[in-house]
Amino acid sequence: MRHATGISDFGIEGLEEILARAIQWKAGAHPKHLVDRILGMVFFNPSLRTRASFEAVMARGGGSAIVLEVGNGVWKLEDRIGAIMDGDRAEHIKEAAPVLARYVDLLAVRTFAAGASDEEDHADPVMNGFRNYSTVPTLSMESAREHPCQGLADLMTARETFGSTQGLPVTLTWAPHIKPLPKAVPNSFLLTAAAAGCEVRVAHPEGFELQGEVLAQAQALAKASGGSVSLTKDQGEAAAGSRVVYAKAWGPSTAGGLKAEAVKDHPDWICSPELMGKAAKDAIFMHCLPVRRNVEVADGVLDGPWSRVVDEAENRFHVQRSLVQWLLEA
Ligand code: CP
Repeated sequence: MRHATGISDFGIEGLEEILARAIQWKAGAHPKHLVDRILGMVFFNPSLRTRASFEAVMARGGGSAIVLEVGNGVWKLEDRIGAIMDGDRAEHIKEAAPVLARYVDLLAVRTFAAGASDEEDHADPVMNGFRNYSTVPTLSMESAREHPCQGLADLMTARETFGSTQGLPVTLTWAPHIKPLPKAVPNSFLLTAAAAGCEVRVAHPEGFELQGEVLAQAQALAKASGGSVSLTKDQGEAAAGSRVVYAKAWGPSTAGGLKAEAVKDHPDWICSPELMGKAAKDAIFMHCLPVRRNVEVADGVLDGPWSRVVDEAENRFHVQRSLVQWLLEA
């Protein structure tokens, strides 16, 4: 049985297969590949794109989706092994996951990082709990560690624009925010771009390091794909000549000693038209959305010629129906 909770589930071969089918299907009529199939969607956190695009995948494919919002008409769920359940969490995922798996063909989960410790988030306890206790394929709609569907959509957008991503210079730049955000999206962009052969440049201020194991995984993927990964604290240096600039806010490294408010300390890291001016002439701008205008990214970039953020969001639909097919055909 296949799962898709992180890039290691599909690797470079699966990535190429999923992207190729997504691009092929986008060009044609909607295939009815999901007749009589049901997707169970469990949300611990809010969403616009992920929920709407997965519901569209199931409806267009001839299937259907059951959407459950944990704590909102659905029991609060416990994930800690051995927990004494005398709090407000009425049901353990040890029961919830296998019960849901009796009703549906696939189980999708959204569970954001708690943010207290990078190491705990890296262990991805809720997603791995569902994965361990579900008896049907489990897929991530963003977890503490990765957002694989976003990474796939990002790479599809770059491929559509440039044809190939082999050796493509791409910058993943940290952006300021009003609060610390999880690292799942930057992790997935980094991992997917590395797996797709890009020359990935990661730029962030001191104290906002990504998790060491994720960087090591990205280096290994880049080695296998013929790509590369480099790190810098100079945003302009990273952007120079880049053909993709990908901005994302994320919180400080919990090992770095910075307080949560440090996300506001570098307003000059906003992605601006001046920064885009340093990139290649044909450069595009990407962001997973939602984006805080004029905090993370200036209006001039989002409304300018570089922006592909809406295409990127559309591509969530295309990569997800291909991913669902990949999970079901195993
Ligand atoms: N990019 C993304 O996952 O969007 P939502 O949080 O709206 O689902």
